[in-house]
Amino acid sequence: MVSAGTLRIEDLTAEERAVYATLKPERMPQNVAIIMDGNGRWAGHRSLKRFLGHQQGANSVQLVTETAARIGLPWLTLYAFSLENNLRRPRAEVNFLMRLLTTYLDSNVQRMMDNNIRMRYIGRTHELPAEVQKKMLWAEEATAGNTGTTLILALNYSGRSEMVDAFRGLTAEMKEKHLSAECISEEAIHRHLYAADMPDPDLLIRTSGEMRLSNFLLWQIAYTEIFVTERLWPDFRGIHLLEAIADFQHRERRFGGLGVGCGEVEEDPGQIKIAVS
Ligand code: FPP
Repeated sequence: MVSAGTLRIEDLTAEERAVYATLKPERMPQNVAIIMDGNGRWAGHRSLKRFLGHQQGANSVQLVTETAARIGLPWLTLYAFSLENNLRRPRAEVNFLMRLLTTYLDSNVQRMMDNNIRMRYIGRTHELPAEVQKKMLWAEEATAGNTGTTLILALNYSGRSEMVDAFRGLTAEMKEKHLSAECISEEAIHRHLYAADMPDPDLLIRTSGEMRLSNFLLWQIAYTEIFVTERLWPDFRGIHLLEAIADFQHRERRFGGLGVGCGEVEEDPGQIKIAVS
């Protein structure tokens, strides 16, 4: 297992330690991505305003990230704000989410330092308000030297736009270097993704029960295992991350190859007969 930073298992709760003890170190994921959904419903179930759901959701972000850091998860990639959220949600909600992000960074950078967490971002972040970008850059620079978990926040992010941006980047490179279409390969496209050094997620978790990808990391999730939980994001904690990893460790990943119990492999039978009865 490649783990980030120093393991701090003793800092897990007793409940978390019990689940962690069942995990196989050699089958730990390198990157866990999460679609954090259900903040609005969490608030609705309590007859609260939606913004309070987002506020609780920000609390979950920090707690889950700290558990990830304690178990040495190298990468945690969270879908915090999609390009579609930016375009389609009421302005008041978008403005609140921007203020929440700024406050979140202000209040949690010290905790990121204490937990050796490095912060990065993916998405069309240059379209976010200037003061938010300034705060993001401050948090990224402050944590850049940390060697534990890398927390990637996807902000103003969409998987399709990431591909458009990657193709634009690649075509600009081709023009500059006078390269032909033959140079286009999966590796070449990958080099132009927002975080080209980020490994593809091994596990994608979606909270609140929806069976959708919602335009998240479309290029990177080709062989990612998906785990959907009914739990709403504001109720999601480190223990639930560990439970999802435990479930993931029971999956057989085949990457298009053959798995155990797949039938006997034989010589090419030559003739193919299809008997229709
Ligand atoms: C989905 O819930 C969540 C979002 C659109 C935003 C995610 C934001 C957070 C988790 C909090 C802020 C994060 C940071 C990093 C400060 P929804 O509103 O779509 O919920 P619903 O589907 O129940 O309405």
